[in-house]
Amino acid sequence: MHHLFFSITPMNVDICTPRSLQKTPNLSLQELYDLPENEVIERIISLRKSLGDQLLILGHHYQREEVIAFADITGDSLKLAQEAAKTTAPFIIFCGVHFMAEMADVLTSDEQVVILPDPAAGCSMADMANDEQVTRCWSELAQILNPDEQVTPVTYINSTAALKAFCGEHQGIVCTSGNAKRVMSWAWGKREKILFFPDQHLGENTALTMGISDEDMIIWDPFKPMGGNSEESIKHAKLILWKGFCSVHQLFKAEHAATMRNNHPDIQILAHPECSREVCETADFVGSTEAIMKHVQDAPSGSKFTIATELNLVNRLRIQHPNKPIWFLSPTVSMCSTMFRTDPQHLCWSLQAIVGDKKYHRVTVPASQQAMALASLHAMLELG
Ligand code: 13P
Ligand code: SF4
Repeated sequence: MHHLFFSITPMNVDICTPRSLQKTPNLSLQELYDLPENEVIERIISLRKSLGDQLLILGHHYQREEVIAFADITGDSLKLAQEAAKTTAPFIIFCGVHFMAEMADVLTSDEQVVILPDPAAGCSMADMANDEQVTRCWSELAQILNPDEQVTPVTYINSTAALKAFCGEHQGIVCTSGNAKRVMSWAWGKREKILFFPDQHLGENTALTMGISDEDMIIWDPFKPMGGNSEESIKHAKLILWKGFCSVHQLFKAEHAATMRNNHPDIQILAHPECSREVCETADFVGSTEAIMKHVQDAPSGSKFTIATELNLVNRLRIQHPNKPIWFLSPTVSMCSTMFRTDPQHLCWSLQAIVGDKKYHRVTVPASQQAMALASLHAMLELG
């Protein structure tokens, strides 16, 4: 991960410090934590106002309530990628995790600055596949196949820019939970096999809906030679699934779904495709965060749901739809601790830094990865 600290005011950006803040020096993070929360919120409102259309705040649906309230646009990874590709704002604050900020940096111009309020907001799933491991996998595959003719690499957007660049170099593509089926069908249209990383579950759950059978899928364990597979099984496989997962979504179990159905026979189970196959197979609807929100929104009043995705989003849906009873699928708390790192204090600190021309947490993708990462993201965005 590249946590770069820069202080760059893009050219042609006129930033004025609001009158109410002119007398107050920039506060450190610790000083912001020492302030009552309502004062932090007041500072955010004032700073945000002073930046006007010089700034776009993008917020992923898993962000906590106090942060998402300040997002100009909220969305799933696909919608946020589309918005990042469109914006001309010189500053983008990404309230999400590191791979999202990297994706925004690739999709914006060199002059635009992408800021991740807390640079430690990573994604444990994205960390499960790195450039070295994927390159090794590709060369191991090359011992038995001609991967550049037979295998399309598909990376879930929850991955480093280096892996998006890898896909770009090998005529591969990026997917999100919102378009995985369309992307995989495009990928199989090009070559007979797909290498899908880093999330086994999104790849597997999507392939099952496309009629791919267990015999056609193998799991690639990056810690074993040949991913733990025989030459024969690699030759036969249509789908090679990286052994990665989201620890938040693995907490939902099929037995939780069975208990819910037992207690509420008319309940609908909604699941994110990062959940295990057992949970997705029992669900009434499987979709991205945006699709889950829309499904609840479109349902008639009185509909009952139990949802298998991150807690902040489920709680928000409960507040937005008081006439539609909603239960969290797991009896234990499944929260994304890295999404939770972005709090009002970090947001305020980032805004202060932009306005005061101080250091902020800029995320930049190395120039050597930009073009190829852009190629694989463009391939996805062109699919619509
Ligand atoms: P969505 O693209 O569905 O919002 O998912 C992102 C994510 O990280 C889910 O864990
Ligand atoms: Fe990554 Fe899982 Fe958090 Fe999504 S919920 S950002 S996949 S750790």
